[in-house]
Amino acid sequence: MKWIARDIEALGDKPALISHIGDISYARGYSWVWDHFFNQIEPVASKVPYHVCIGNHEYDWPLQPWKPDWAMYIYSKDGGGECGVPYSLKFNMPGNSSESTKSRAPPTRNLYYSFDFGVVHFVYLSTETNFLKGSEQYKFLKKDLESVDRVKTPWVVVQGHRPMYTTSNNGRDRPITEKMLEHLEPLLVDNKVNLALWGHVHRYERFCPINNFTCGSGPVHVVIGMAGQDWQPIWEPRSNHPDMPIFPQPAHSIYRGGEFGYTKLIANRERLTFTYIGNHDGEMHDSMEMLATGEVVNGKITNIPSSEVKDIDEGKGKVGKTSYLWYVQGAGVLLFGLLVGYLLGFMSRAKKEVVTNKEWIPLKTTEET
Ligand SMILES: [Fe+2]
Repeated sequence: MKWIARDIEALGDKPALISHIGDISYARGYSWVWDHFFNQIEPVASKVPYHVCIGNHEYDWPLQPWKPDWAMYIYSKDGGGECGVPYSLKFNMPGNSSESTKSRAPPTRNLYYSFDFGVVHFVYLSTETNFLKGSEQYKFLKKDLESVDRVKTPWVVVQGHRPMYTTSNNGRDRPITEKMLEHLEPLLVDNKVNLALWGHVHRYERFCPINNFTCGSGPVHVVIGMAGQDWQPIWEPRSNHPDMPIFPQPAHSIYRGGEFGYTKLIANRERLTFTYIGNHDGEMHDSMEMLATGEVVNGKITNIPSSEVKDIDEGKGKVGKTSYLWYVQGAGVLLFGLLVGYLLGFMSRAKKEVVTNKEWIPLKTTEET
């Protein structure tokens, strides 16, 4: 939290928002945990808008209304019986999406919505309720993406909780992932969504511009579920099998990181930058740039001395130099992504090496996300 507060402080009066895409407090039925969570985020949530979407730990329960046959083994008791009620009453997001709880409890709200913020059109989805073709959410997404004014907002960022792409253990969620690929990916690709952000998997993973597992065109997908919760099987080899990673890294997975942290999105009309900040050191560990021309650049971002930052802020040259702060200076919007599990704390972790091109040897068959 201190690094996010630092970054907001550095922005001064430039516009910014925070995006928290599901599994928000991990209260799971204990209301005091929600209170504790809100106290934790107050230093930043009191300064900039705090946007959320729903995750399994706000909703998942055996009696949830939407539970198709193909998802029978996905849903269990991750929500601790909250059934979306605290989530619906504690937050008030844009739009009027809601689903009946089919009980005496109030409808579940804040499911899907969108808004323009600077040069970015942000869309929030619910992976916990019906998103299939014909559903209200699908109709919303289709209409919303088709009506974006790309002159006004040249960038479109879609966010939801369960990822469409991950190379971590996703066995339990595979049916829902397949449905997302079948029903939602064509909408994202056809409408030239630039960036798709997901949580749920407690790791950072950035993919190439992708469509149907093929690099080249389509949105850049990034899993940013590394705010502080763990339980995810690691990617690295076991000590007694040093040559066999648990989950090999395929070519379409560009960068994987196990450090807790958050991500930062900065955009102006010419480019969008996306960076991964490690909690253990407050430093950048991965970065990606998109240009208005459609090019995606996976370059590292160069820090520059504070003396030069002053020059940039005052417009004394240096503009055009590849630097993190240049983009802040020209930013139309700033988004911080922070996900999952404040309650277990921000544990510092050493950066780990990624091992590639090895056979997959699963260690665990259950996923706790
Ligand atoms: Fe989750």
